[in-house]
Amino acid sequence: TDQYAVVGNPIAHSLSPQIHGAFAAQTGEDIHYGKHLVEKDRFADFAREFFSGGGRGLNVTAPFKLDACRFADQLTERARAAGAVNTLAKQGDGSVLGDNTDGAGLVADIRDNLGWEIRGNKILLLGAGGAVRGALLSILQEGPQVIHIANRTAQKAQQLAQDFSGYGRITASGLDAVPAGFDLVINASAASLSGELPPLSPRSLAQGCRTYDMVYGAEPTPFMRWAEQLGAETADGLGMLVGQAAEAFYLWRGVRPAVAPVLDMLRAELR
Ligand code: ATR
Repeated sequence: TDQYAVVGNPIAHSLSPQIHGAFAAQTGEDIHYGKHLVEKDRFADFAREFFSGGGRGLNVTAPFKLDACRFADQLTERARAAGAVNTLAKQGDGSVLGDNTDGAGLVADIRDNLGWEIRGNKILLLGAGGAVRGALLSILQEGPQVIHIANRTAQKAQQLAQDFSGYGRITASGLDAVPAGFDLVINASAASLSGELPPLSPRSLAQGCRTYDMVYGAEPTPFMRWAEQLGAETADGLGMLVGQAAEAFYLWRGVRPAVAPVLDMLRAELR
């Protein structure tokens, strides 16, 4: 039985063991998937021991995505662009590959589960932290017409647009200077985690706008409620969580699990 695990701090409420357990049952893959609470300065020690003890792959969550990026022997292009790693995979030659499946999970959820278009549309991203960094390349690769990053601290949004300028044209501003008329607004700021609403003008939402919040829970976030009141379709980030896990499972096992039944199961449990 091949060993996998998720590492974070905190980790108690991680749904990853349940998600990967469901993928394994569904595909008949013989894996064991654990979860480990690791002290803040102990990531590299833990990972070294895990892989030298025969472990095959790790999922990495806060606050260790930068540590995992440094730990990896090689990086995929999307992990290098993100500057963060959420998945480590032991390779045949004994080295450890670092990948970032967050953006792919987000795009798969938006495109395949929700059936919303990114291609040719005007996309607004709220926030300029690791969550946006992890998603940008995958969104750019879908071919949006416009991509704008708006952040509470404008300078951080501008820096991010600059960092990704080699991959495509991105504009940036503070939350108070967002252009009008976006087709899809993705809230990747940490505002929802503290029950707050990013101060965004309703004019930023085009007629028929769709809105996505990377945070998930039993209740809609303040951002989702705000967007709903304006007549926008809304979705939370549970599908992104399952999507990034499916991408990691594929990287490790070479088999693509079906996401929808696992998402339905988790949704039912959240309620
Ligand atoms: P993550 O890795 O989740 O992206 P992060 O790197 O700490 O976390 O970034 C948090 C992001 O949420 C930042 O863009 C932050 O804005 P600032 O750069 O101005 O700090 C944003 N954020 C946090 N709380 C917010 C709030 N109440 N309203 C709007 N944006 C908020």
